[in-house]
Amino acid sequence: MKETRVDTLILGAGAAGMMCAAHSGGRTLVVDHAKAPGEKIRISGGGRCNFTNLHTAPDRFLSRNPHFAKSALSRYTQWDFLDLVQRHGIPWHEKTLGQLFCDDSARDIIDMLTDEMAKAGAELWLRTDIGEIAHRDGAFHVTLTREGRETQAVARNLVVATGGKSIPKMGATGRAYAIAEQFGLALTETRPALVPFTFGDSLADLKALSGLSVMGRATANGTVFDEAILFTHRGLSGPAILQASSYWREGDEITLDLAPGTDLGQWLSHEKKERGRRQIATVLEAHLPARLATEMMARMGGDARLADQSDKRLTEIGHALNAWTLKPTATEGYRTAEVTLGGIDTDALSSRTMMAQTVPGLYVIGEAVDVTGWLGGYNFQWAWSSGWAAGTAI
Ligand code: FDA
Repeated sequence: MKETRVDTLILGAGAAGMMCAAHSGGRTLVVDHAKAPGEKIRISGGGRCNFTNLHTAPDRFLSRNPHFAKSALSRYTQWDFLDLVQRHGIPWHEKTLGQLFCDDSARDIIDMLTDEMAKAGAELWLRTDIGEIAHRDGAFHVTLTREGRETQAVARNLVVATGGKSIPKMGATGRAYAIAEQFGLALTETRPALVPFTFGDSLADLKALSGLSVMGRATANGTVFDEAILFTHRGLSGPAILQASSYWREGDEITLDLAPGTDLGQWLSHEKKERGRRQIATVLEAHLPARLATEMMARMGGDARLADQSDKRLTEIGHALNAWTLKPTATEGYRTAEVTLGGIDTDALSSRTMMAQTVPGLYVIGEAVDVTGWLGGYNFQWAWSSGWAAGTAI
């Protein structure tokens, strides 16, 4: 078998792997089974890549150890990545809530990273399968198969950047977890996150609302998100719901406020005095989309004139809309989840270098690690920061 000797072998040419390769010294080889690098970058942000968030801070990340991400995030910040984007002349804009997107295409980010990798002298092998990994005499020996030919790569440093389990169709394999197990690194529970909820038949009567979006508030296990809620033919999605999914566990309820900031019960009682002859759904249109107001009133036993309802009943209606409690049956799972929650336990890694505490030369970065960001560019920022931390430490 042919042998290739490098200083650093990076498994995975995604966001974290490419960032690491752009900063690691010595001879670096990046391998990936996909036919192109950065496939998730390409499809991210609706093709415009939400590449970071101006409000990046450690409290926007979930991890068993909430302190772990602080080091990398503070040493390679959203401003550092933005600076890189600007140096490459990539046009960008802030969309909302500090989310930065490319003006043109996510491909600009991929081109920037492949350009940076090339400048650093890193080599990229695509359509390459990763076989057996052995560790002996202070080096990692990895069997690679490329175009049917096997090569034994021998490297002093091995960087695991193969991501999580989300969207298997796009090449996600969970290989990082198998490597962690091989080297005795602990794992935390993994589950789909930033993922739509399904409700079995319990929302079947709202199927007609599919495609309707409303600005609302979703709460799961005490964590609150004010963003859009989207009705789908399978259940609920939209940013507020995706965010809530990261805090939800099977059997939990979620609460939706369809008119945050307005006590609808009080408001309806007030309206009753002014416009008692009007139907409740019509009056609610001041705060809710008309279709939603109609369907919700149908759910609550049918529409009626305001004047015909007691204040107690109006308070109940208001409460049902301000604190709509729902029990999702499940999520759509890894098929559509944007990220994997959990992963390689941060206790097994150095927060400064991302190197395994017990295996010198073995690094884990990006989504494979038990650090999961909120929706809005945070997950890419973690990929850049952790990739940079490992790359500059090598
Ligand atoms: P990533 O998954 O990017 O890369 C892993 C690489 O390893 C891939 O190239 C894969 O082919 C390769 N690989 C895996 N297993 C392998 C194996 N066994 N052998 C060889 N190669 C293997 N985040 C954000 O901040 N802003 C956004 O706009 C979005 N949008 C978005 C949309 C969609 C649809 C998804 C699915 C995800 C997002 N995300 C996001 C999340 C973001 O894409 C994710 O957090 C990062 O890509 C993680 O970067 P990594 O480099 O860790 O993994």
